[in-house]
Amino acid sequence: MKIIIVTLSIILVIVNLNIVSATYNYYDVVTLGAKANSNSDSSKALEAAWSTACNSSGESTIHMPEGEFFVRKSLKFSGKGCQSSKINFVINGTLKAPSDFRVLQNSKTWVLFEHVDGVTLSGGVFDAAGAELWNCKRSGNGACPRGVESLGFLNSQNIEINGITSLDSQLYHIVIDDCRNVKVNGVTISASGHSPNTDGIHVQSSTDVTISSSNIATGDDCISIGPGTKNLWIQDITCGPGHGISIGSLGKTFHEAKVHNVTVQTSTFTNTENGVRIKSWGRPSDGLVSNVVFQHLTMENARNPIIIDQKYCPNHKNCPGEVSGVRISDVTYDDIHGSSATSIAVKFDCSPKHRCSGIKLKNINLTYKNKQASSFCSNCEGSTFGDVQPNSCLE
Ligand SMILES: *[C@@H]1O[C@H](CO)[C@@H](O)[C@H](O)[C@H]1NC(C)=O
Ligand SMILES: *[C@@H]1O[C@H](CO)[C@@H](O)[C@H](O)[C@H]1NC(C)=O
Ligand SMILES: *[C@@H]1O[C@H](CO)[C@@H](O)[C@H](O)[C@H]1NC(C)=O
Ligand SMILES: *[C@@H]1O[C@H](CO)[C@@H](O)[C@H](O)[C@H]1NC(C)=O
Repeated sequence: MKIIIVTLSIILVIVNLNIVSATYNYYDVVTLGAKANSNSDSSKALEAAWSTACNSSGESTIHMPEGEFFVRKSLKFSGKGCQSSKINFVINGTLKAPSDFRVLQNSKTWVLFEHVDGVTLSGGVFDAAGAELWNCKRSGNGACPRGVESLGFLNSQNIEINGITSLDSQLYHIVIDDCRNVKVNGVTISASGHSPNTDGIHVQSSTDVTISSSNIATGDDCISIGPGTKNLWIQDITCGPGHGISIGSLGKTFHEAKVHNVTVQTSTFTNTENGVRIKSWGRPSDGLVSNVVFQHLTMENARNPIIIDQKYCPNHKNCPGEVSGVRISDVTYDDIHGSSATSIAVKFDCSPKHRCSGIKLKNINLTYKNKQASSFCSNCEGSTFGDVQPNSCLE
């Protein structure tokens, strides 16, 4: 009996080894011509690694060792026509963009994955060197380009992003657009609190996205959630500086896919502009936000810990006396505590066209300067459970 088992397991081991050796491909970008800590551009080596991996059947790993590698071109990794079942990017080094923002100005994204199925990105630093563009924008001379997003996933599925660091993006750091089944975990995002439009992670038109255990410090939203987002799970985020976690801006266009089933859990907001926000333009729209849960959150000196703002109209342009058409329903705020940096800790400024409905406040304790804070409600219906401070003004 023993002999049979031993023989059987030897056969199994052999079979396994065969499978592994037949399908495992490994590509080192240095072998393909990338040069660390030199002035040379490693874009071509990365493109070569991708197309070889894409053309190899089975699973491939692309490795970038330690060191700083200049990437002076926008990279587009397309999964169209790939033979591979899965591609792992293991990055131990830093990808560095040119600090002269004019070099990349004709692309939307610095490093883009498009039409890929089964990509894991682990480790590594993406340093987009955005400070010169921020300075240009802040100088108000008006001649600055929009900037590039650092890392994008477009039209893709079965993606994992683990333990990467994104520094100083020109525009958004990470964008997940038109994707399904994306897991973002252990990510660090860092840009100046004064950097314009440097959102940490932006999700839109995507289903089944999870973002967990990440530290985000930036000049705009830590996480922004756009139209067409469904089944989004956000957990264990530290946010600040930044503008908080925001659903919206929604309703900029008339026809807009809904945002449905979003959970934000066990996260901390420190010195942020907002905590959790839902925001829509004061414009006609058929947009919808429903089934949202904000739970177990700590606010440390957030200016607007809980806010719904349906009157968004920057510079009072393009929203001539309109009201928002976006419907907001079934939003739960549960166990949210800490301090507000302004006296109004809870603000629900909803649309007179479609009142917010099904808003639930449960065990809220937000204070202002260690004293009682206040609430503001306009066109908002809902109910309270447990201890709610500041006192609710829901109708
Ligand atoms: C990938 O395979 C296609 C089709 O066989 C071929 O045209 C293309 O040149 C290959 N690319 C690389 C980088 O090997
Ligand atoms: C390289 O990065 C991977 C993924 O983050 C990590 O698992 C591995 O330990 C790193 N290797 C070195 C030598 O740092
Ligand atoms: C809501 O989304 C979560 C993932 O974020 C998922 O586990 C759950 O099944 C979804 N609920 C419904 C009713 O679809
Ligand atoms: C609310 O928070 C304040 C300060 O954090 C604390 O002193 C107070 O006991 C809390 N109230 C409740 C009901 O938990």
